[in-house]
Amino acid sequence: MKPERLKIIVTRPIPGELCDEISRNRPELDIVCRPQDAPINGDELIEWINAEKPYGVVITLAEKFPDNIISKLPESVKAISTIAVGKDNIDQNACDNRGIKVFNTPDVLTNATADLTWALILAASRRIVEGHKMCADDKFVGWSPTLLMGKELTGATIGIVGMGRIGSAVAKRAFGFNMKVAYFNRNPIQDISSKFPGIDHSSLPKYMAIDDLCAQSDVITLHCPLNDASFHLLNEARLNSCRHDAALVNMARGPVVDETALIKSLKAGRFMGVGLDVYENEPNINPELKNFDRVTLLPHIGSATIETRWKMMRLSINAILETVNK
Ligand code: DGY
Repeated sequence: MKPERLKIIVTRPIPGELCDEISRNRPELDIVCRPQDAPINGDELIEWINAEKPYGVVITLAEKFPDNIISKLPESVKAISTIAVGKDNIDQNACDNRGIKVFNTPDVLTNATADLTWALILAASRRIVEGHKMCADDKFVGWSPTLLMGKELTGATIGIVGMGRIGSAVAKRAFGFNMKVAYFNRNPIQDISSKFPGIDHSSLPKYMAIDDLCAQSDVITLHCPLNDASFHLLNEARLNSCRHDAALVNMARGPVVDETALIKSLKAGRFMGVGLDVYENEPNINPELKNFDRVTLLPHIGSATIETRWKMMRLSINAILETVNK
């Protein structure tokens, strides 16, 4: 039955103009945003939602909804929508059992995330942050034929782990660099040519088993969801099988890479560069990662463009609204 007033609560502040825009179209809607732009978890989260008794809850990837939180939500909650494409912070089965619909924000963040992937690929392969540091520290004393030599991307092989929307957008950009594209997915994609219209058959991304992809790629970039199968997909053995001068980028979720093993590998001199946007114990970054000049660290900003974040927020709220009357 349609509630008289429809309440959606948001775990973070969102732009007032966006709330106004949505409320104009749905006058029966009350949007309540938590004023703090910081995660809320555990007892505090349960207490807040129980006090508000909303129909829908808009969350971020930093708020965790395991079974023991879902089971304590008030009956009023019918939908949870995360401002992210990854849903690994929500126990889907627990939501299914409670009849709570779960939404995320695919598509709208694809280009922003693929663009930033390339920023990290270039940083990792062309030593951009090392160069910046040298200049900023007044250590640049003149051009040298051997200064900060990196890795040529043209003609190199990029191995994309997870050929979904973002992986495919990364692949499209790789064609612009004349790279050979390999990919690993849980299953090979049947009609790969339909994802890449206009790409010559011989240049289409080629499926590789994960072990082969790690061993053969010049650039490895991660875009798969985090689940039981992808946890520590890049384990010690696979990291140690990577080319010595490979560039590694993680835009997926931190636990896809065994971070302790990565640090060991880096200490042993492996990798031309590593670019990370995500971490195993986010937002805590293993301090050892900060010791390597060739590791570029970003604070999980894959989708952080003004345009994309607005679209993500709008989509999250609208997804909940669409469930009303269904
Ligand atoms: C996602 O959407 O899952 C991203 O990691 C957020 O930027």
